[in-house]
Amino acid sequence: MRVARLESETDFEGWRGHARALLCDQVSPEDVTWQVGKTQDNLFAILDAPAPSRDPDYRPKVSKQFLADAKLALCHRDQERFGLLYRLIHRMQDDPGLLSNTVDDDVIRLNALVKSVSRDRHKMRAFVRFRAVKGEPDTFVSWFEPEHRIVEENAPFFMRRFANMTWSILTPERSAHYDRKHLRFGPGAKKADAPDADALEDLWRTYYGAIFNPARLKVKAMGAEMPKKYWKNLPEAELIAPLIANARKLEAGMVEAAPTPPKRLADYAFSEPGLPPGDALAILRREAAGCALCDHACHATRTVFGEGSLDASLMVVGEQPGDHEDIAGRPFIGPTGELFDKALIEAGLARDALYITNAVKHFRFTPKGKNRIHQSPKVSHIDQCRWWLRAERRLVKPKVTLAMGATAIRALSGRSIPIDEARETGFDCFDGRAGLATIHPAAILRQSDPDEAATLYKNLIIDLRRAQKMATGKANDAGDEASSFNHTNP
Ligand code: URA
Repeated sequence: MRVARLESETDFEGWRGHARALLCDQVSPEDVTWQVGKTQDNLFAILDAPAPSRDPDYRPKVSKQFLADAKLALCHRDQERFGLLYRLIHRMQDDPGLLSNTVDDDVIRLNALVKSVSRDRHKMRAFVRFRAVKGEPDTFVSWFEPEHRIVEENAPFFMRRFANMTWSILTPERSAHYDRKHLRFGPGAKKADAPDADALEDLWRTYYGAIFNPARLKVKAMGAEMPKKYWKNLPEAELIAPLIANARKLEAGMVEAAPTPPKRLADYAFSEPGLPPGDALAILRREAAGCALCDHACHATRTVFGEGSLDASLMVVGEQPGDHEDIAGRPFIGPTGELFDKALIEAGLARDALYITNAVKHFRFTPKGKNRIHQSPKVSHIDQCRWWLRAERRLVKPKVTLAMGATAIRALSGRSIPIDEARETGFDCFDGRAGLATIHPAAILRQSDPDEAATLYKNLIIDLRRAQKMATGKANDAGDEASSFNHTNP
């Protein structure tokens, strides 16, 4: 009898090494005992040591598919799995096509194990619900009870999916931890180790309630997709029974009722009173990354969200990201941003003391050859994207907002005011806060007359200083003299 000892229940590399040595030594499956961890039994100690394989270069005949299946099957709780897999690989040495014999008992068993683990893996991906850890921005913990030992196998998926978060997934036998750089595994945990229910769960309930469509209710299909055993850890599951019970009434109501705007996941950013603004902004930013409210969102590379100080008394709003911003994901970093930065310096304003954003968060363009030519957003885009601007303003609460250009004026005031007029009189933003206006820096870059461009640039600096003074009550040290604009090299 040979004893093959594995380090853990999911020690695939260990199993593979033993299988290779056993095949090389032509050991029959019936003559192998598979054990996990250290044995308590001294009798076995004599037999423990893995017999050295006679030929270290020996390579058994094995397909990639079998190895992939074996890796999954090893995560199953079936006690016999190590032996089954060895029996299969042993038989495959004489019968390489064995796996295609779908009526073979061992193959049937293997396929059942793989199917069950794959399903559990899929359910974990669908049903892990993270809870925010209070006081630790962007840190989330989830409790999940998988049917099989799939934590290590599944963790890389969560690492890719939630790459910008620090997270832990706790399960009764194993835990996975990711700190945005490294994935680590630790022992199992208890449900109580995960944070208490939080507002994020309300959000899931809101979301689930919003997507539940009574007119398309299929109870059986729902049960198959969200089996009952997962319900206890799913915040939204408590809605299922009442939603089903109410479905017919809701359906009738839906037919009668006027359409109502759905609540958004990002409402969570405002639903928890104690949530630090930085966390709330992170939630908004993450949510906005998937925004597809308007019809040009899908053409842009990414959502370019605002950035800067959440304590800023001055918010600066541009039109929409340009080509460079769309690629880098940050506002005002291309040629227009360079001119804007130069103007800020000359006006004596520190960029990181401001909150800088755009009225529209996606780049709108027409492709021309290899280039993407800027297109102004439509009014409908401005109106749709105002939701995000409003959310940013609820967090930053700027005393004064400087709108750069017509789009920003429209987004903030809700109406079209000529720039000169808005520049002269200022305007009320939709949330009642004070708005000032100035020329958009891109319009200065587009100006072909150098004298006109220099005048516009001078005005931009004057407007920046004025906005700063109104927002902080202080004129800055740079004085009031505005500067030099070199048209060819801003
Ligand atoms: N123009 C804008 O209005 N915003 C940017 O972020 C870049 C260019």
